[in-house]
Amino acid sequence: MITRRTLMAAAGLAMGGLVAIPASAQETVKIGLILPMTGPFASTGRQVEAGVKAYMALNGDTVAGKKIEVVLRDDGGVADQTRRIAQELVVNDGAKMLMGFGLTPLAMSVAPVLNQAKIPAIITSATTSAIMPQSQYYVRTSMGGPQSAVPVATWAVQNNLKKVVTLVSDYGPGIDIEQGFTNQFKKDGGTIVEAIRVPLANPDFAPFLQRVRDAKPDAVFAFVPAGIGAQFMKQYVDRGLADAGIKLIATGDVTDDDLLNGMGPVAKGVITGHFYSALHDSPENKAFVAQVKKAANNMRPNFMGVGGYDAMTLAYMALKKTNGDTDGTKLIEAMKGATWVSPRGPITIDPATRDIVQDIYMREVKEVNGELYNVEFATFPKIKDPNAK
Ligand code: PHB
Repeated sequence: MITRRTLMAAAGLAMGGLVAIPASAQETVKIGLILPMTGPFASTGRQVEAGVKAYMALNGDTVAGKKIEVVLRDDGGVADQTRRIAQELVVNDGAKMLMGFGLTPLAMSVAPVLNQAKIPAIITSATTSAIMPQSQYYVRTSMGGPQSAVPVATWAVQNNLKKVVTLVSDYGPGIDIEQGFTNQFKKDGGTIVEAIRVPLANPDFAPFLQRVRDAKPDAVFAFVPAGIGAQFMKQYVDRGLADAGIKLIATGDVTDDDLLNGMGPVAKGVITGHFYSALHDSPENKAFVAQVKKAANNMRPNFMGVGGYDAMTLAYMALKKTNGDTDGTKLIEAMKGATWVSPRGPITIDPATRDIVQDIYMREVKEVNGELYNVEFATFPKIKDPNAK
């Protein structure tokens, strides 16, 4: 990008300034992408970055006559860093939009920056319901609160799993998901035997899984954030829960496509609800998966990757709609009601909440062509965050 601009300017000079460079070609719109590229949630950063790059590789780096430059910064998963970097990107770099935010506290931390600068922040990863009302400039392409938990509750009762222990990471998304699952499960006639919350940082699941085992439920319903699922799965097996006949049901965060193959055969048969599977059968998804694999050393995209891809889709759609105007309030208005077919399936940005409305799929981990995948078997269409006001 920088190289190309320098070359163009040099060419103009060499020709005595006779060749006019079109004004539009000189205007660059910067998008600040803030992600955990290091630390325990680095897989999220790697995935979102790959999704953003895939969109630009497939759709070019200009829209509405503007050149798009994505400025990637690593916050290491630390909220104070996220906020400081957001401020720098706006004040020093002149970013017109922000994007990313690998965890709820990181997304939350930038609300004051957005409210002051009046520029949109597209959330690619964090999911807690309570983020959205903090700023009218948040818009989300990951998911909202317990969208993925509610269908799992209905499926469980229908499949005779009527006594369940819930086990979630003890912070925003875990609490939203626990409540969403529990409300639906009880409504459908199920019983929660015990509700367990596990610390987010450096979790040792063993003592908690022992409590699950002792409670002898039909199933354990789990949520842990992307990047932690493999560790959870290993301990679920090591503590003998699978052998004791306690079925594992979860949100798709646990059987994240990026790490699923590494979990091995123990993951087979795990039932989850979520918005994205790398095996989703559509031309949009085939193109997306192929592009990420080609550009990122054969990496399989997961739901964080598609969150990044769709964030770029939304940024481009908004710039097209404003005809290249980068006024933040105009951009966020342009994003409201945006509707398109993502690699995950059809999606809409709810104009009232700026949150995503999307299909949630029920999936089972199965081996397909020698690899483990979340194989979709049922669709719950157009799900909104049940907590959204
Ligand atoms: C979050 O912190 O909001 C979060 C992170 C990873 C997930 C889901 C939610 O997989």
